[in-house]
Amino acid sequence: MTAKIIDGKAIAADIRSDVGEGAAKLRAGGLVPGLATVLVGDDPASHKYVGMKRRMCAEVGIESYHNELPADATQEDVLALVERLATDPAVHGILVQLPLPKHIDEEAVLNAVPLSKDVDGFHPLNIGALAMKGREGDFIPCTPHGVIELLKRSGTEMSGASAVVLGRSNIVGMPVALLLVDQNATVTICHSRTKNTPELCRNADIIVAAIGRARFVRGDWIKPGATIIDVGTNVIDDATRKSGKRLVGDVDFDAAVEVAGAITPVPGGVGPMTIAMLLQNTLRAASRCA
Ligand code: GUN
Repeated sequence: MTAKIIDGKAIAADIRSDVGEGAAKLRAGGLVPGLATVLVGDDPASHKYVGMKRRMCAEVGIESYHNELPADATQEDVLALVERLATDPAVHGILVQLPLPKHIDEEAVLNAVPLSKDVDGFHPLNIGALAMKGREGDFIPCTPHGVIELLKRSGTEMSGASAVVLGRSNIVGMPVALLLVDQNATVTICHSRTKNTPELCRNADIIVAAIGRARFVRGDWIKPGATIIDVGTNVIDDATRKSGKRLVGDVDFDAAVEVAGAITPVPGGVGPMTIAMLLQNTLRAASRCA
């Protein structure tokens, strides 16, 4: 059996196209949707991600306002910036790229983003709403939302399914697990202390891998026909590439594709969805001001 490849790149392009249409309507009515990006420090990956987010904003007609602070910025500097953006009427969404430098209190910064502009969905109240039955937060975090959208659009039945989430991070693992529960899946979260991860995976109809370990999930951990969503982006050496490097996920794709029913590739799976969901959230935030 060869799995269906879930084309996150194409699905994200569809979502961006819808966002583009929505943004054009708002602009025609005189409202320019705006996203403020906040980058603290010089982490190269964060700079790359924020650059990609801003390029995609431009593509769909969302104005982006970039704000950069040095790695030695103080807690007060970061909070003052977020508080200024919170009251700026041109800014409908605020994205604080994570991780922040270690000396900055991340929770205090995320708390300073007003709920109406929390397009990343990381405000403690938005995260808390995910954990409560029947409660809907204003915004859902982008990567977890993208994972659920890929499951829906690949025709994967979540209700009643056994789902294993590998990883329990604030950004991906934990919110994905809560969203899967909301979709009526039976969810197991595996992490570094879990004793029988391969066995738990073998019983899963859905696996979401978000642990940041290259090709950790082996082909023989996968139940035939399962849907595999690979959130990992790990750089490994590859002498056959000009760059000498290659991006791989948390799943051994070549082995998994032979067993699974559907699987996301890396790159081109979850990655493009994160930005698409951010743009969708920003359009929603702006629409509320129209
Ligand atoms: N760092 C890694 N992923 C994300 C994300 O989705 N949003 C933000 N703000 N920072 C991140």
